[in-house]
Amino acid sequence: MIDQLEKFGLFFEEKALLQFQSLMLEKDYSKIAILCDSHTHDLCLPIFLSQLPTLEAGKLEIVELEPGEETKSIEVLAQVWDAFGALEMDRHSVLINLGGGVISDLGGFAAATYMRGIDFINFPTSLLAMVDASVGAKTGINFGAYKNRIGLFTEPLMVGILPEFLETLPEEEFLSGWAEMLKHGLIADAEHYRGLIRRKPNTSQIDSALIAHSVAIKAEVVAQDKHEGGLRKILNFGHSIGHALESWYQQAGQPLTHGYAVALGMQVELSLSAAFAECDINEVQALQRDLRKFYPVPVLKPQATDLKTMLLGDKKNKGSHLRFSLLRSCGAALYDIEVPMDSVLEHYNNYFHG
Ligand SMILES: NC(=O)c1ccc[n+]([C@@H]2O[C@H](COP(=O)([O-])OP(=O)(O)OC[C@H]3O[C@@H](n4cnc5c(N)ncnc54)[C@H](O)[C@@H]3O)[C@@H](O)[C@H]2O)c1
Repeated sequence: MIDQLEKFGLFFEEKALLQFQSLMLEKDYSKIAILCDSHTHDLCLPIFLSQLPTLEAGKLEIVELEPGEETKSIEVLAQVWDAFGALEMDRHSVLINLGGGVISDLGGFAAATYMRGIDFINFPTSLLAMVDASVGAKTGINFGAYKNRIGLFTEPLMVGILPEFLETLPEEEFLSGWAEMLKHGLIADAEHYRGLIRRKPNTSQIDSALIAHSVAIKAEVVAQDKHEGGLRKILNFGHSIGHALESWYQQAGQPLTHGYAVALGMQVELSLSAAFAECDINEVQALQRDLRKFYPVPVLKPQATDLKTMLLGDKKNKGSHLRFSLLRSCGAALYDIEVPMDSVLEHYNNYFHG
């Protein structure tokens, strides 16, 4: 499985470092800038650099940002472009994104737009970025109240996955990535889902093979439909409601991790799957019980009217009907299922406030 991912530009452990070094030799970049946040600067950068003794110190620059979702903003993006200019990066420079999804989303977008595009490479350090954000070519920033409003599709030159970074990842961030892994199983591979749900979600339970299994599901789907004209939409299972919740909790000053919001979104969208995609209600309830164990509904929760406002701001939604990716059964997803807004709110209310 791991070797099969190389055709998508994904490399693991030792092979990731070798591939990276051979790219650096081959391309002979004028500048190599590493983008990180203060956590990954302190915890991951020393590990990364210690494994790459051949990196030329004279060419290497570090750009360090504040950690957190607020960093994915137009203001910070402008600071990053400024930093590239101050470092005299030119079109023959490369950016290494060393961080979670915030760094790979913002950094990928910054690289793709600076001087009409410079090369970039992702070394994801959070589980969520390893299994999801750093793969699939979506980059961008949040704008106004809405997530990922501005962005573009652009491919990293390679993605290097070093699971040892996960040793310092806080538990709630680990759970966030785990939710996306569960989603991959739910939409495309029931066996993968069952394998995950039997484990305790913590770093002792994860290895390259398990990460590769999840990444392969995403990479195969993206390879068939990069620009989300059809099949790729199945990856949005849990995200329509999840993004709305994520934005609301952010504004309420009690931010949820991305994966936690998606796990809550999946629970509501499972109810919709029973009502609109003929998913067996007993299966739905069993899956909801599984997910609730690790991702319970928070005490503070938005009213249905708040959710409606956030849903209408989602770039995927228009008018009184919303389009969802839903489960036909565990391991099989459908996309473009139209659901009236009133039904969405009713199912949300029953699950969250019932
Ligand atoms: N482009 C895509 O396809 C895609 C897919 C899913 C999510 N995303 C985006 O990804 C973002 C979420 O990613 P995330 O959960 O990685 O968030 P993040 O980048 O904010 O990382 C979460 C936290 O973990 C810290 N961290 C990361 N690696 C660490 C490590 N090894 N040790 C200690 N701390 C570490 C970070 O500093 C941060 O505080 C969201 O903005 C979301 O929209 C993008």
